[in-house]
Amino acid sequence: MHTHTLSHQYSLLLLPLLLIFFSAPYSKAAYNIPKLSPLFRTVLQDPNTLSTSISEDLETFFYSQTLDHFNYRPESYTTFKQRYVINSKYWGGANENAPIFAYLGAEAPLDDDLTGIGFLNENAPRFKALQVYIEHRFYGKSVPFGSFEEAIKNHSIRGYFNSAQAIADYAKVLMYLKKKLSAQNSPIIVIGGSYGGMLASWFRLKYPHIALGALASSAPILYFDDLTPQNGYYSLVTKDFKEVSENCYKTIKESWSEIDKVASMSNGLSVLSKRFKTCKHLNNSSELKDYLDSMYATAAQYNQPPEYPVTKVCGGIDGASEGSDILGRIFAGVVGYKGNWSCYDTGQYIYPDETNVGWGWQTCSEMVIPIGRGRNDTMFPPSPFDFKQYSDHCKSLYDVPPRPHWVTTYYGGQSIKLVLHRFASNIIFSNGLRDPYSSGGVLEDLSDSLLAIYTVNGSHCLDILPADVSDPQWLIKQRKIEVEIMEGWIKKYYADLLALKK
Ligand SMILES: *[C@@H]1O[C@H](CO)[C@@H](O)[C@H](O)[C@H]1NC(C)=O
Ligand SMILES: *[C@@H]1O[C@H](CO)[C@@H](O)[C@H](O)[C@H]1NC(C)=O
Ligand SMILES: *[C@@H]1O[C@H](CO)[C@@H](O)[C@H](O)[C@H]1NC(C)=O
Ligand SMILES: *[C@@H]1O[C@H](CO)[C@@H](O)[C@H](O)[C@H]1NC(C)=O
Ligand SMILES: *[C@@H]1O[C@H](CO)[C@@H](O)[C@H](O)[C@H]1NC(C)=O
Ligand SMILES: *[C@@H]1O[C@H](CO)[C@@H](O)[C@H](O)[C@H]1NC(C)=O
Repeated sequence: MHTHTLSHQYSLLLLPLLLIFFSAPYSKAAYNIPKLSPLFRTVLQDPNTLSTSISEDLETFFYSQTLDHFNYRPESYTTFKQRYVINSKYWGGANENAPIFAYLGAEAPLDDDLTGIGFLNENAPRFKALQVYIEHRFYGKSVPFGSFEEAIKNHSIRGYFNSAQAIADYAKVLMYLKKKLSAQNSPIIVIGGSYGGMLASWFRLKYPHIALGALASSAPILYFDDLTPQNGYYSLVTKDFKEVSENCYKTIKESWSEIDKVASMSNGLSVLSKRFKTCKHLNNSSELKDYLDSMYATAAQYNQPPEYPVTKVCGGIDGASEGSDILGRIFAGVVGYKGNWSCYDTGQYIYPDETNVGWGWQTCSEMVIPIGRGRNDTMFPPSPFDFKQYSDHCKSLYDVPPRPHWVTTYYGGQSIKLVLHRFASNIIFSNGLRDPYSSGGVLEDLSDSLLAIYTVNGSHCLDILPADVSDPQWLIKQRKIEVEIMEGWIKKYYADLLALKK
């Protein structure tokens, strides 16, 4: 993957886009559930990073999907077109019972994943695997009732926009494909990252007759219902910065009150606008603080080699010219990370793309990830997660309150080891411990086939991104371990298949 132009492009994938819904008078952080995307979408749209040779092998199909899998009312039978894409270049075929790798789409259109997720295509030859990529309902070209805008606006239609329906869609597409390809005995391994990683692990638990195993990359399945401390996310962001540079961490920690102090002066917002070279005049200091907050969080979440964005931010802060004050050093951090621009668009988080709008609904209904911060436990200003406020706000947007306990009720999570070690199997929970979302991930083996494969210095979903010549040994090793585990599952499956046929 070409990473040369990453720095300013991070800015295009900001975390707190929920702000579009969660604007004044509330402070942003009370609602900010950072996005769970495996990819820097804008990087992947760079034509240099798209391998045309891969694109040529892809075939797009549309499955006529049922709107509501869990009801028998007439309207439940409505169908919509769901997109899936197949790459059969390396497939050994149905006669060999060759495996199927199924990528479970997450909260975004599928397009970028087709080339942006390297794991399937890179390992397909070794496994002689068929690759199937399936788009999540309501995103991209898989939207019920026409346009996304219409579907998300309509109270009754968006009720069908949830994870249980989504994994049921995946089940139906995969059952259909097996039949169509006469590949009944081909083992399926589902793969997903971030929210898609959660779906992959849940899919294996709910549909063991369809998926032999799952690779759940950076899937924070324990960041629900207070199973993980609320400050898990931002504590890790803080730790990442502190480990790179104590001075950088301290500067950031001190900067918030400094920004407030300047903002409260008579022409303070003009001063801040000038010093941070904002493209538009700042109307308040929270816009600047939100911008910086999401920059630090994004840098930590996507702290990839070889550039390591946290190191770039801190390089700017620590390398600021002699005698710079706190604001000068923070701005040098912005330049270090985003590059040298004529101005910085601090308001850009308000752009409503499909992912931000769709994920906004998902987090306001089912995916309630209580991320908050205490008084002095991170380098950020305090901002506890206040469910009441969160719920009121969701209700004002969507007329329905969120259901914060549903994920743990439906998929589990409490006492996960006690519960899963005796009945579940074949899930890899992969993480990078520098990814703030790893705080809600499974970081210990739950049984001899529910395995936590993590790297100390890894970031969000690194293992499933395309391999690169510059990849560090620890990342190469993580991927190798994952592949070997899958080979073990498949080998055992073939042995069982043979034994049971006799
Ligand atoms: C700060 O200003 C931005 C841009 O005008 C606005 O969207 C936001 O609601 C304001 N926030 C507060 C807390 O006033
Ligand atoms: C919502 O969608 C349903 C199903 O298509 C339709 O019957 C209804 O009129 C829509 N409601 C609005 C407010 O558009
Ligand atoms: C600040 O507010 C003014 C008027 O309320 C508005 O025109 C301007 O776009 C706002 N600035 C930003 C950055 O949103
Ligand atoms: C940033 O660009 C401006 C104008 O292009 C230039 O004057 C300045 O020296 C540059 N700063 C850095 C840190 O490269
Ligand atoms: C905050 O925590 C730091 C280190 O953990 C400690 O040195 C400092 O005194 C604390 N500040 C307050 C106001 O509690
Ligand atoms: C992780 O990175 C740190 C600092 O960059 C380095 O000292 C350490 O050896 C690395 N750990 C591993 C396991 O690679």
